[in-house]
Amino acid sequence: MSDRYAVIGRPISHTKSPLIHGLFAQASGQCLEYGALEGELEGFEAQVLQFRNDGGLGMNITAPFKLRAFELADQRSERAQLARAANALKFEDGRIFAENFDGIGLLRDIEENLGEPLGNRRVLLLGAGGAVRGALLPFLQAGPSELVLANRDMATALTLRNELDHPRLRISRYEELEGQPFDIVVNATSASLTGELPPLPEGVLGETRLAYELAYGKGLTPFLRMAQAQGVTRLADGVGMLVEQAAEAFAWWRGVRPDTRAVIDRLTIPLE
Ligand code: ATR
Repeated sequence: MSDRYAVIGRPISHTKSPLIHGLFAQASGQCLEYGALEGELEGFEAQVLQFRNDGGLGMNITAPFKLRAFELADQRSERAQLARAANALKFEDGRIFAENFDGIGLLRDIEENLGEPLGNRRVLLLGAGGAVRGALLPFLQAGPSELVLANRDMATALTLRNELDHPRLRISRYEELEGQPFDIVVNATSASLTGELPPLPEGVLGETRLAYELAYGKGLTPFLRMAQAQGVTRLADGVGMLVEQAAEAFAWWRGVRPDTRAVIDRLTIPLE
């Protein structure tokens, strides 16, 4: 029997993870099986333990179970601790290890695939939810001149700021951003899922080199349209992040880092 992995979430029918990991396995000559499980709100933990007891070696975790997966683990990486969420689990030596590769996946996509290193750049992250929690540590480690986190609810932003006191991390209200240009702007809010636009004031996108929308497959969201209208030439959605976080998990489980380019190309939906 080949080594078993799976993604669990609710709903799960939209997931691209089996396709991505299948392509990685094929390209790197690894023999594994990767399935998708519809998570149960009542019995999520039991499902994970059952999968492990049946011989499973690892899982990816998606909404709404990332926090519960984190809590279920015996050992958690620093990234997972700051994110307070796990998007990948590994079952080894009778223990459950938790990781969070969302942030590093996003960083790799921006720096390596899109060719925009964060070093000495002014970077703006919109939102203060789980997606931003995952991105903060890898982003700060990439050495931006300043990392600003803007959120409507300042209490949430403040909690994050208090957990990660870093000289180059600043939190801001949206209106305070007026007239402050940023090189790279990442929309990590859930606004795009409801067709809304984060309340970005004038002057923020004027010098922006890259506007990145975390949502995948939503086309030109209101945020990307706004960026396009303000002359930002490089627009991206989360397809590269999706594939890069998967590659990190694959490497963690299998010890082999797969090539991501062909998979990203295959999953890319044009931003029109
Ligand atoms: P996720 O885990 O996907 O990041 P979340 O934890 O539900 O999602 O967080 C959603 C984020 O999107 C929050 O930062 C939220 O801002 P508030 O904390 O101020 O509510 C942000 N968000 C959602 N809709 C938004 C909108 N229309 N404009 C700006 N921010 C929005």
